[in-house]
Amino acid sequence: MLITMKNILQVAEAKQCALGAFNTPNLECVIAVLSTAEKLNLPVIIQFAEVHEDLIPLKIMGPIMVALAEKSTVPVCVHLDHGTALAYLSEALKMGFTSVMYDGSGLEYHDNVANTCMAVEMASRCGASVEAEIGAIGREEGSSLGDKAGNHVGNVTGESCYTDPDQARDFVTRTKIDALACSFGTVHGIYVTKPSLDFLRLSEIRTKVNIPLVMHGGSGICADDYRECISRGIRKINYYTYMSRNGGNYVKEKCASKGSEDVYFHDVVKWGIDAMARDIMSAMKVFSGLPHGVDNVTKE
Ligand code: 13P
Repeated sequence: MLITMKNILQVAEAKQCALGAFNTPNLECVIAVLSTAEKLNLPVIIQFAEVHEDLIPLKIMGPIMVALAEKSTVPVCVHLDHGTALAYLSEALKMGFTSVMYDGSGLEYHDNVANTCMAVEMASRCGASVEAEIGAIGREEGSSLGDKAGNHVGNVTGESCYTDPDQARDFVTRTKIDALACSFGTVHGIYVTKPSLDFLRLSEIRTKVNIPLVMHGGSGICADDYRECISRGIRKINYYTYMSRNGGNYVKEKCASKGSEDVYFHDVVKWGIDAMARDIMSAMKVFSGLPHGVDNVTKE
């Protein structure tokens, strides 16, 4: 069933846990996420990021996400991730998305505030929620630019981009958003060195802001660090790169094991879904506080 971000994160707040928010730029991702959430009987967020337009357009993927979320046996929020244009947010809202993220983090502060207020106004007319960001979370989800091994040279976000707690309070008061994405040391994509998270900053933001906090760049964080962040107010964890990489690498292994035999596309699709579902299950267990959920998530 469909649910808004505001309502789904109230569940997380009541249980003092976090919910996974998984990017789904293809049908296989949607199936992997929803089937796993149903197995664990957990609410979940599926999201479409504007940067994935070149993989598949929102106008094709959005209605599929909404239709499958409506049919699901668990509460599902369908969310637009990192929308940078208000017209794009409007497109998602018209399709029935129950939440949108306006990302004005690249703008001057007062422009970010003004546009986020417009996003809140637009979304409230549709009964939907809004997430927004101050500070900047580096790189793009699923990004694999870099050296020949696909590694980035260094973790991109520096402390100068971290969310300022006082500005966070001002931003939330002015905009009346439902959830705040903050920058405290995570980045999208693959980490080259172990991320060093600024937990004190996170706690300070939480004391100044009375709404759920969102971690972007959730792939590649160790289980203890996820738990620490959850204990300090993170209620939504955006996660995509590792599930996609695990799906892709498993398909690669299976294809290699076939040698000179034919490989059928329907099998490729199924291998990908199964491998992503295993990774998603590990992630969901850690985020929700269920036992035995660390193996795949911490695997490099
Ligand atoms: P990862 O790239 O770390 O999986 O993060 C995804 C994300 O934050 C989407 O907004």
